[in-house]
Amino acid sequence: MSDFPRKIIIDTDPGQDDAMAILLALGSPEEIDLLGIVAVAGNVPIARTAENARKVCEVAKRPDVKVYAGCDRPLAHTLVTAEHVHGKTGLDGIELPAPEMPIQDQHGVDFIIETLRAEPAGTVTLCPLGPLTNIATAFQKAPDIIARVQEIVLMGGAYFEVGNVTPAAEFNIYVDPEAAEIVFKSGVKLTVMPLDCTHKVLVTAPRLQAFKDFGNHLGDVVAGWLDFFERFDVEKYGSLGGPLHDPTVIAYLIKPELFSGRFINVEIETGSELTRGMTVADWWGVTDREQNAMFMGDADAEGFFTLLTERVRRLA
Ligand code: BDR
Ligand code: CA
Repeated sequence: MSDFPRKIIIDTDPGQDDAMAILLALGSPEEIDLLGIVAVAGNVPIARTAENARKVCEVAKRPDVKVYAGCDRPLAHTLVTAEHVHGKTGLDGIELPAPEMPIQDQHGVDFIIETLRAEPAGTVTLCPLGPLTNIATAFQKAPDIIARVQEIVLMGGAYFEVGNVTPAAEFNIYVDPEAAEIVFKSGVKLTVMPLDCTHKVLVTAPRLQAFKDFGNHLGDVVAGWLDFFERFDVEKYGSLGGPLHDPTVIAYLIKPELFSGRFINVEIETGSELTRGMTVADWWGVTDREQNAMFMGDADAEGFFTLLTERVRRLA
């Protein structure tokens, strides 16, 4: 029996790379059954992420997708945003009309809880692409759902690449380390796409051109986003293109063979001012702490971009 399509909930703070993850999911109906999108505060405040998620669905001509607003701030700290990377709207790079499709009335956390209770146990995968606030809140509010989650595949953290928002921490984990700690200690099957992996999938000039070559509105939108988004990292790292973090989560569900990593122990630093949000990953197995996460370290970049381009093209 095929494992496809996999039922997923995308939990996200769009973000241009989040937007590409949503497009990849919508372009892959044979493998991905998207039950809903929940916005979280992260790259920009919640009002923007909830609006941006709907803009992305409309770009994909899928106004039927259910989009919910989740938590507007991290569990214990004030919100840190990333307009310096994603622009003022979070989706800078091309002007898009305000969305016409509605935001759902239900709170995003309640949607997550209700869905996990309604679907058969072990059949829904959570795909967090931003801070883990919604997922941790759902686990705190309804601990019975924890055992019902099939898997969490998330973008966040780093070991060899260390940090992008502080010298020690990756943005998604840094924004809400208390939430990350709850998720990493939950016992749910966990697959992590850290910077170690996402910094291998760079939007080089030919890969950007492949989207422009669609020669249609969707191609222009994607090229506008990616062109804008990569500036920051290209300047910072001197790389050939910006890393396309969040779509690795969806690509992993479709083609896990594109990625490789190790099943290891990962703990979240919540105490230290200096290293808050660090993912302390026991890559070398130097402790006897229990393994809790499949932590990816490498990606087949060509295979990843071939998949992404082909699936997004289908939406045009
Ligand atoms: C992560 O932070 C956000 O800015 C991106 O959307 C991605 O989820 C990378 O550190
Ligand atoms: Ca994100």
